[in-house]
Amino acid sequence: MKTAVITGVTGQDGSYLSELLLSKGYKVVGLKRRTSLINTDRVDSFYDNPNFILEYWDLNDVGSLYRIISKYKPNEIYNLAAQSHVRVSFDIPEHTVDGVAMGPLRILEAIRNIDTNIKFYQASSSEMYGDALCPKTGYVEDSRMTPASPYACAKLFAHNLVRNYRESYKIQASSGILFNHESPRRGETFVTRKITMAAARIKLGLQKHLFLGNLEAKRDWGYAGDYVEAMWLMLQQDRPDDYVISTGETRTVREFLKEVFECAELSIDKYVRIDQKYFRPHEVPFLLGNNTKAKTNLGWEPRIRFKDLATIMYNEDLKNISKELKK
Ligand code: NAP
Ligand code: GDD
Repeated sequence: MKTAVITGVTGQDGSYLSELLLSKGYKVVGLKRRTSLINTDRVDSFYDNPNFILEYWDLNDVGSLYRIISKYKPNEIYNLAAQSHVRVSFDIPEHTVDGVAMGPLRILEAIRNIDTNIKFYQASSSEMYGDALCPKTGYVEDSRMTPASPYACAKLFAHNLVRNYRESYKIQASSGILFNHESPRRGETFVTRKITMAAARIKLGLQKHLFLGNLEAKRDWGYAGDYVEAMWLMLQQDRPDDYVISTGETRTVREFLKEVFECAELSIDKYVRIDQKYFRPHEVPFLLGNNTKAKTNLGWEPRIRFKDLATIMYNEDLKNISKELKK
């Protein structure tokens, strides 16, 4: 039986990855903070699985990391923990950068000191490309990166560090440069979930308006359930490497909004308002990923596409909020 440690297990990706690894017969050691809201639908379903264990940890707690690695002797570590909200990283840059940049450094040092055979996955991000000119066919693994937020600067530091530890100490460390991926488990302040939640609440008469920022930004949006498979595939390869994980299709925030409001039969003009507070000091205007390397080397393909993603997320929110109302 293989053992995997997942940091950020209470997050969107942590929950899907736990499910995937448990279904493959792994023992999963999920790391959470004391303040983590763990009694959520995200991880509820596998609490009673004896192969799922929760341990306390924090991105800045080196001692607990050494204790956990020594205790469980994992084959694989997936580092998903982060203050992952780009807008918030402008408000709490020090906290964000400490966790996002120094967290992976601490894990890599622990691997270097304890067991260099442990395979490591780093959650890198398409935000690292920032406002660099995007090639017509989308960003690839070695495209220029000009990060445009404290969050993205810290992710790029960690991304470079993974390559550095791979070269310096032969550590089996891979980075997934994941483009935006969403799901019904997406955090409620990210734009897709904010839109699907609001549409469902407006439909049920629980909310009057939806306030948004920049509707013209373009993102390459995929489904989180598909993307965690790519993480696992990366660590099953003989050689560690970096991979772009994306759909190869880019859409504006406005298009996502339109898709959801059409599905809910709601008028955008009537319910949506623009609020400057949701604009960023430095925006990433356009993201499009070229996933050729992942398709070729990993045999990975995205399954759920933009239109279905919007519909699935809206329907799930409508169903769950209606259920709550009936209680
Ligand atoms: P998420 O839902 O925001 O989850 C973040 C996780 O990190 C949560 O479990 C959170 O725990 C934990 N965390 C935050 N700060 C921590 C700290 N100081 N110590 C320990 N744990 C901490 O994020 P996600 O969407 O699943 O994304 C997973 C990873 O992929 C993140 O690193 C993100 O930056 C990266 N990424 C995401 C996307 C995307 O589109 N989703 C794309 C590219 C890269 P609490 O429950 O305690 O808050
Ligand atoms: N959150 C939010 N809230 N974003 C808004 C809003 C709003 O009210 N209105 C417009 N937007 C725009 C943002 O300006 C941005 O251009 C776009 O919607 C997407 O914002 P988010 O959903 O917050 O995601 P993100 O692209 O900034 O970051 C996500 O994806 C990255 C990968 O590219 C996060 O998951 C990051 O952790 C991840 O690395």
